[in-house]
This record gives sequence, C-alpha cells and structure tokens, in this order.
Amino acid sequence: MQLHDARVILTGASGGIGLQIAAALCAEGARVLAVSRSGAALEPLLKLYPERLRWLEADLGTAAGRQRVLAASQGMDGFNLLINAAGVNHFAMLEQLPEADIEAMLQINLLAPMLLTRQLLPGLKQAGSAMLVNVGSTYGSLGYAGYAAYCASKFGLRGFSEALRRELADSNVHVLYVAPRATRTGMNSSAAQALNAALNTQVDDPVRVASAVVHAIAGDRTELYLGWPERLFVRINNLLPALIDRGLRKHLPLIRQFSAHDPQGPRQP
Ligand SMILES: NC(=O)c1ccc[n+]([C@@H]2O[C@H](COP(=O)([O-])OP(=O)(O)OC[C@H]3O[C@@H](n4cnc5c(N)ncnc54)[C@H](OP(=O)(O)O)[C@@H]3O)[C@@H](O)[C@H]2O)c1
Repeated sequence: MQLHDARVILTGASGGIGLQIAAALCAEGARVLAVSRSGAALEPLLKLYPERLRWLEADLGTAAGRQRVLAASQGMDGFNLLINAAGVNHFAMLEQLPEADIEAMLQINLLAPMLLTRQLLPGLKQAGSAMLVNVGSTYGSLGYAGYAAYCASKFGLRGFSEALRRELADSNVHVLYVAPRATRTGMNSSAAQALNAALNTQVDDPVRVASAVVHAIAGDRTELYLGWPERLFVRINNLLPALIDRGLRKHLPLIRQFSAHDPQGPRQP
C-alpha cells in the first residue's frame, strides 16, 4: 500500500502503540481519523499535523460509538485502511477476574473489531486497493496463565483475521494480522510489568512496534509476529504444546504471586 495517499481509520489512537502508528502514518503523508474515548494524548500530534489528523471521540464498546465511526467515515471522501488497535487487558488469574473485566476484554478486543469491520467493509471495498489491520498479540497464539480471558479474545481476533482474509481473497481488501509481544505502554499494570521484569521478558518500545506495523502495511504483508524468542515459542506451541506446558508450569508460582499483588487492588470476581 502507498502510505502517502492512505486514508486511515485508526482505533486505539490515544494508546501507547496507536499514537505511534498515527505519528508514523502522518509522517508518511497519510490522512488519519484517530478514534478513542480520550483525546488528550493526541493533542501534540493534532497540532503537528492539523491537515492530516482528526480525532473522533467514540466508545467502541457501544453501538452508538461504532455508529459515530461509520458516520465520520462517510464524511471522509473515501478511506482505504482500517486499523483495529484499541484493546484492554487485565492481568489476573481467572477466579480473581471480575466478570465485567472478562466482558470488557471480549467486547473491546474481539467483538468491537468484528462489528466495526463489518460496518466499514462496504467503504473499504469502494477503494481501489484497501487493507484491514487487526492488532492481536503473541497471546493470540500462546495461552498464558494470568491472561486467560485476554488470550481468548486475541485467539478469537486471530481466527477472525484468518477467516476474513480467506473470505476477501478475491476482493480488493487485504487483511494483515499483527502480533506484538510485550510493549512498554499504559496497558500493562505495574504487576504485569513486575512479572515481565522477574521473568526477564523483553519489552518493546512502542515506536519500534509502530514502525514495524507501518512497514508491514507498506509491504502488503499478511502477518507480522514481533520478537524473538516469542516467534519460536509460538511455533513450538503449535507443534509440541506439552513442551510449552512444562516450561510455563515452572513460572506459575511467580505468576500467582504477582497477579495477587496487583496495585489496582484485590479483584472481586
Ligand atoms: N502493550 C502491550 O504489551 C501489547 C502487547 C501485545 C499486543 N498489544 C495490543 O496492542 C493494541 C494497543 O495496545 P496499547 O499497548 O497501545 O494499549 P493502551 O496504551 O492501553 O491503549 C489502548 C487504546 O485502546 C483504546 N480503548 C480502550 N477501550 C476503548 C473503548 N471502549 N472505546 C474506544 N477505545 C478504547 C484506548 O483509548 P481511550 O482509553 O482513550 O478510549 C487506547 O487508545 C491492543 O490491541 C493490545 O491488545 C499490546
């Protein structure tokens, strides 16, 4: 895809990764409709690119919010790139996870991108050449303790992306699924960060993640899995899941310990 004439709808644009994707796309000359509930984080970028960047306040967890995105897309004079990057994550063992958090993860990480994509597909099909990008996670391919609901949502998003790619194979809409590994953003609670530090997990800079995503868009890629050894773990998990079971079992005591000390407070299921 030619980035300089891309007309983009980007969800999660106020977040750690989304904001950097917006910056990278604007720097390439793309025009971006940045969707999120809060706009404060976008203000410097809105000042830098007043012609290219526009913010739309919308709660993607509601039909009214998704309708606002559809209405704004109709005033855009066409768009050819939809990036579903909004997401939520709550690190906790399943029994400690309140029902509302489970619902929010499935709602924002899986259902909202599916419904929004369905609404915006006719618009994408009107473009000469178009692309849908779904931002998943390493945890969309690798089940991990403390992230059961998040993994379920991202496994679902990966399945949705793969099926839709095949459904749209004879159309002008290309589908890219992106799987970042741990990234330094506000998404990760201090308990999740402490676990990453204790396990020596590599944590990526969101600028690098955004740059890789934008590169994959420009290169018309179908999939992008970020990070080594995470890519290897995903492969081994597909072929020999018992090996990963054994490796992760050793981490269980640490995962339990950190998830129980989430400073957001003890979770009431
Ligand atoms: N950070 C990581 O370690 C990591 C690793 C792998 C994959 N990912 C994935 O990468 C994507 C971006 O994550 P991030 O790290 O940038 O997260 P983040 O900094 O927490 O940002 C999350 C974004 O989602 C938006 N959002 C959340 N709930 C929303 C709602 N109800 N309606 C509209 N927008 C909503 C937030 O906007 P408002 O709050 O302003 O609405 C914000 O823009 C997510 O899909 C995440 O699952 C992240």
